[in-house]
Amino acid sequence: MSDSIERIAVLGAGTMGRGIAQLCAERGLSVGLYDVSPEVLQSAQSAVRAQLERAVQKGKSSAEQRDAALARINATTELPSACRDAQLFIEAVPERMELKIALLDAVKAGAPPAALFASNTSSLSITELGRGIREPARTVGLHFFNPPPVMPLLEIVRGLGTSPEAIERCLAFARQIGKEPIVVNDVPGFASSRLGVALGAEAIRMLEAKVASVADIDRAMELGYRHPMGPLKLTDLVGLDVRLAILEHLQREIGEQFRPPPLLRQMVRAGRLGKKTGLGFYRWTDDGPVAVE
Ligand code: CAA
Repeated sequence: MSDSIERIAVLGAGTMGRGIAQLCAERGLSVGLYDVSPEVLQSAQSAVRAQLERAVQKGKSSAEQRDAALARINATTELPSACRDAQLFIEAVPERMELKIALLDAVKAGAPPAALFASNTSSLSITELGRGIREPARTVGLHFFNPPPVMPLLEIVRGLGTSPEAIERCLAFARQIGKEPIVVNDVPGFASSRLGVALGAEAIRMLEAKVASVADIDRAMELGYRHPMGPLKLTDLVGLDVRLAILEHLQREIGEQFRPPPLLRQMVRAGRLGKKTGLGFYRWTDDGPVAVE
């Protein structure tokens, strides 16, 4: 098999999965996009279509390019159909190790001998995943950032058993899809999530302590530090449930400084998960996010 990757399967069509699928299809790859839920798949297809349409409206791509990218995505609830001939599998399902192992284990049987098994996990152990599917050498972390088509970084995570060849192929893949890679070792929270959630959690604690309003805590970082969006808005973008799962994991693995703030837990219990549910620290309207004070 040639080293260049032409066909991938993205498992899970949530915020990250659909973004990864869009990005790779725009770069000319054939993408099988799988999800258990037809509704999620439908919403993923509409979201990708809307993003590609936006690019056409802005004159950044043509109607032909939009249609070609859409045609490269096979969105399906049939796992074998999504996985057919894939050289790289990227799972982007919820942050539960047993779920990730079961899914990658299920696709392994039909996969070509040189296929790579990747996880978009923000913090779970790639070493444990590789052991779980009994393919440590071919298991890697490919950590994308939200929104995947826009953010330049691809964090490549090397598990204890990941082969040098797998890392080389991931570096080539990163270049193929126009990302800047960094290679990090498999430590909880890698290089990016550990710092990212620390800032977000501290902003929530500051809100609990009534230091300032939602909008002003965010403005402090946007205007004072030139962050493109403040830590509370970013928590909304990432998903409060996702951030809570990362914090719980890092609390177990690293220590008490990552204890999730009670307000975060309460908001997740209330279903206020951020942009994807329309309500988090902000109310996400058609005219943009409005801080809930
Ligand atoms: N798909 C494709 N393109 C998109 C997009 C999407 N989903 N969302 C935005 N864009 C594009 C827009 O088309 C626009 O392109 P042009 O400038 O070329 O016209 C560009 O991105 C900027 O978008 P907007 O003008 O709508 O809005 P903005 O200027 O406010 O930027 C943003 C939006 C890119 C999200 C910016 O606010 C930003 O960079 N925020 C920080 C995002 C961040 O930190 N992400 C990391 C989160 S952590 C994570 O993901 C890892 C984890 O493990 C949890």
